[in-house]
Amino acid sequence: MFHSTSSVLGISLFATLASAQLVPLVDKHFAYPDGIPYQADTDIGVRGGQAGYNRCNATTEGQNSLCQTSFLNSLSDFCLWAPINPNSTVGDVEGQMVAWCSQPGHGARTIPAGTLTGLQFTKTPDYVQIVGFLTQNNVNLQPDDFGGEMDPHGADLRGNPLGGLMYSNAFGTNKNAYTQVIEWHNFIGSNAFCLKVCDPAGPNAAQYCQHIYDRIGCAYNAPNNAQNNVFESCLGDNQDFPGVYVENGVTKTYTQPPESLGPISTIPYVARVPASSSCTPFQSSALFAAAATVLPPATTSASATASITASGASSKPTSRAGTSAAASASAPKPTQTGNDASTLAISSAASILGVVFAGLFLA
Ligand SMILES: *[C@@H]1O[C@H](CO)[C@@H](O)[C@H](O)[C@H]1NC(C)=O
Ligand SMILES: *[C@@H]1O[C@H](CO)[C@@H](O)[C@H](O)[C@H]1NC(C)=O
Repeated sequence: MFHSTSSVLGISLFATLASAQLVPLVDKHFAYPDGIPYQADTDIGVRGGQAGYNRCNATTEGQNSLCQTSFLNSLSDFCLWAPINPNSTVGDVEGQMVAWCSQPGHGARTIPAGTLTGLQFTKTPDYVQIVGFLTQNNVNLQPDDFGGEMDPHGADLRGNPLGGLMYSNAFGTNKNAYTQVIEWHNFIGSNAFCLKVCDPAGPNAAQYCQHIYDRIGCAYNAPNNAQNNVFESCLGDNQDFPGVYVENGVTKTYTQPPESLGPISTIPYVARVPASSSCTPFQSSALFAAAATVLPPATTSASATASITASGASSKPTSRAGTSAAASASAPKPTQTGNDASTLAISSAASILGVVFAGLFLA
């Protein structure tokens, strides 16, 4: 119903290849925790089988975990999708990502202490979102990977990662009650990330957590006020639906061009950054004390340190920065100066356009 041209083509291709019984991942609903099966995806398709499992507990906890059940609860309690093995790229392993969590307790891997260098959690009427800066090499991504999008769709409807499930306790008043989130998206790359999970009780969850704009990054899919070296939990207004904008009083919908047409050379609008409010600042040491004993991969941490300095200090989160160090360095990087929405809206556009003109979009 909400697929891009390329996805539609993919679906017709896969429809002939996949078994008629394939149930799309977004139609698989499991109560937490007892309803969760060992694997949400038991199919073997052209992309193989599910890489990990969904029943995650104390037995599966640790840095070798293959847990594929994720959470976004709060500023201090969330998981990102990241690779199983060191030195990977999103484009290569998006179907096999596993959960890396900000704290132990979810039967998953823990994001090593010091990896997250700035975070903004925002709760709005229709979704919760966390956006931040990280040393992505510490979660098994190549330092210069410009990344891509994970969501519960994909051309074969099995999700990225295959079988990946998402839960949250942010939508009710009971912090012990986890709701399965049906619609979500997570971009990671260029040492930044954004993760938005939409309230399944909301009427527009699929639109706010739209998944068809996978080439235009966080600035268009999750426009935000996140700053490096700041850790804050905020309330906020809803964004516009990704891809929807108003020009001269007319509401328009952007169509992301297919990759066959080459790099995206221009985007006709700047995504509005909604106001955030009631922001509560935190020290990262207070947020992630429990992660302090988890060390990053020893062999690759040195290059990651240099990378976060170059990327995190001066650029907005966007999942599209460059396919090589040289190209990344040549892309214009805006300077973030504060929490002013209009400034940041322009910064977002400059960042994504810098990316665009460098011609560096993920296949
Ligand atoms: C813990 O998780 C593993 C791996 O998914 C599973 O095999 C095992 O049954 C789980 N244990 C319990 C008590 O649920
Ligand atoms: C990471 O992978 C790239 C490309 O495959 C390779 O050139 C590089 O040597 C690898 N780095 C490490 C630390 O393994």
